[in-house]
Amino acid sequence: MAIIIPTFSSLSIQQQSLFEECMLAALLAVQRFHDQDTAEHGERLALYAQATARILGRPKEELRLIRLAALLHDIGKIGIPGSILHKPGPLTEEEWVIMRRHPEIGRQILAQLGGIFQLLSRIVVAHHERWDGQGYPSGLAKEEIPLGARILAVVDSYDAMTSDRLYRAAFSVTKARAELRRCAGRQYDPQVVEAFLRVLTLYEGNVGSAGMGNHFAWLW
Ligand SMILES: [Fe+2]
Repeated sequence: MAIIIPTFSSLSIQQQSLFEECMLAALLAVQRFHDQDTAEHGERLALYAQATARILGRPKEELRLIRLAALLHDIGKIGIPGSILHKPGPLTEEEWVIMRRHPEIGRQILAQLGGIFQLLSRIVVAHHERWDGQGYPSGLAKEEIPLGARILAVVDSYDAMTSDRLYRAAFSVTKARAELRRCAGRQYDPQVVEAFLRVLTLYEGNVGSAGMGNHFAWLW
C-alpha cells in the first residue's frame, strides 16, 4: 500500500504551524546530536542576530525569521565529514572546498521542507556571501544578499573571533569590534556592523562588559 505524504500547502494553517514547530525541533535535535558546538554557536547567534535586526527596525515577523535562520545557519554541516569538521588545526585547500559546501547543503535540506523553511533556506544559503561580492557560494554583493544573511555574516564572525579555537585564543571584545569596523564596507554591510556595535554597547551599558551572556530581555 502506498504511503501518501501531504504537501505543505495542502495542510490547514494550524497544521502548518504544528508541522513547522515539530520540524524545527527535529532539525535542532539532529544538529545538536551531530555537533554540540555548532548548536551552541547557533543559539548565541540567534540572540545577536535578532537584537541587530531589531536595532535596524525590522518588523516582528522578520525578527522571527532571522532568529530561526541563525539557529539553523550551519545545519548543512551535518553533511560535512567529522574528520574535517573537528580537525584540530587549519584545513587544507581541498578540505576547505568540502567545508564551503555547507551553505548549499543547508539550503537543500531546508528548501525541501517547504513553508517557513523555504524562506529560511534563502538566508541560510547566503550566510557566507560578502558585501564586496567575494563570498560564496554565489558571489552575491550588497543588497543582492538577503538582509538576514548580511546580519548573520557579522554576528557569525564576531562569535567566531570571541571564541577560543584549538589553534588560537579568543580575541578580546575590543579587538573583535575593531576588526568588524575594519572590514565594514568590504566583507560586511556597514549599516549592519553599526547596528551590531550598538547592540554590544547597549548590552554593556545594561549589564557591564563581562561578555554577552544569554540575557537580552532589555532589548525587546
Ligand atoms: Fe557557516
